[in-house]
Amino acid sequence: MCLEKRMEKKTIKIDMTKGVDAAGARLAGQILSSGGLVAFPTETVYGLGANALDAGAARKIYQAKGRPSDNPLIVHIARWEDLLQIASGVTERARLLAEAFWPGPLTMVFQKRALVPPETTGGLGTVAVRMPDHPAALAILREAGGFVAAPSANRSGRPSPTTAAHVAQDLDGVIDCIVDGGEVGIGIESTILDLTQEVPEILRPGFVSRPMLEAVIGEVQEDAGAADAKRPRAPGMKYRHYAPNAEMVVVQGAQGDVVAYINRQIRACLREGILPGVLAAEETKDRYAGGVVLCVGKRSEGRSVARHLYGALREFDARGVGRIFSESFDASPYGQAIMNRLLKAAGHRVVESCREVVFGQPVGGFR
Ligand code: TXA
Ligand code: MG
Repeated sequence: MCLEKRMEKKTIKIDMTKGVDAAGARLAGQILSSGGLVAFPTETVYGLGANALDAGAARKIYQAKGRPSDNPLIVHIARWEDLLQIASGVTERARLLAEAFWPGPLTMVFQKRALVPPETTGGLGTVAVRMPDHPAALAILREAGGFVAAPSANRSGRPSPTTAAHVAQDLDGVIDCIVDGGEVGIGIESTILDLTQEVPEILRPGFVSRPMLEAVIGEVQEDAGAADAKRPRAPGMKYRHYAPNAEMVVVQGAQGDVVAYINRQIRACLREGILPGVLAAEETKDRYAGGVVLCVGKRSEGRSVARHLYGALREFDARGVGRIFSESFDASPYGQAIMNRLLKAAGHRVVESCREVVFGQPVGGFR
């Protein structure tokens, strides 16, 4: 698609940073009902909404994002009763989970009903549904008729947006409207749970963890494929995702080894004329000498790390960083969800700091 064509549209901006504005929600709802695209805040990341029951509107999402059309969309709803119109096989388990986690960062996958067009589900016979925990999102959903398909509001392959400014970087002039609700609260996408199987399966880790789910419905399994990223059962997980333009590697090991390793790499980059970036925790951020060091928060406070992760990846790009070295956050609260995103952003390049071995890539395997 040519750039001039993409820039033709005037994107309406609606400010809801000070709270939900009824007239703004009505306008956003009208745009959605008439087949347009509206980016709106949720508690996880900003979503790019279209009427989920309108095949043409759903197709526009793929076009605007440059997203492969086999990658299904999550349908957002504002009322439990609406789930029954689009999903079949909604069991007691689903009701208990909704009671515990909706509105909130849990997406559930069900068999779909005919009301949902195949364009919304990437041709799948199942549909992913969630109820976002954000007053602006819920108001807009109600005004739009109740069913809004929304992937993260980034260009395909870019880090998910956690502010309206991130959305504008990727989609200004391409979509009809951006609703600004300020910075999101969580910062990484919802947990996806497949409820179509005997033992429900986590297809994408998120803020709602396996123990939290098991406390409500008993045994839950994890998608082994989600880890190796070859054949994950959430189709979107196979694409390079959440990625900054810069090359990136995640450095693991004891804290002192990680700092020493990254400092050696910083010096090597500067010798080569490449601007290095470091994604660091509060505890270690002052121990790096040179390059762009971005702190995502205290390692012990996973919430802050999650909330600032995608913004930091975008910031590295904005500052012209050529190589990013990220500390590892697997021992943090929400560590599994955070590492899932970090590893995808890094194209699964991991370095063991004490051994200097790159797994899955030849040593020095930047592409
Ligand atoms: O937190 C979130 O979930 C955000 C906000 C905007 O709600 N949305 C989001 O959407 O992350 P997106 O499109 O970026 O990711 C949706 C993921 C993809 O990996 C997709 O393949 C998977 O959900 N998915 C959607 N429908 C599915 C289905 N029927 N079966 C399995 N996976 C599905
Ligand atoms: Mg996404």
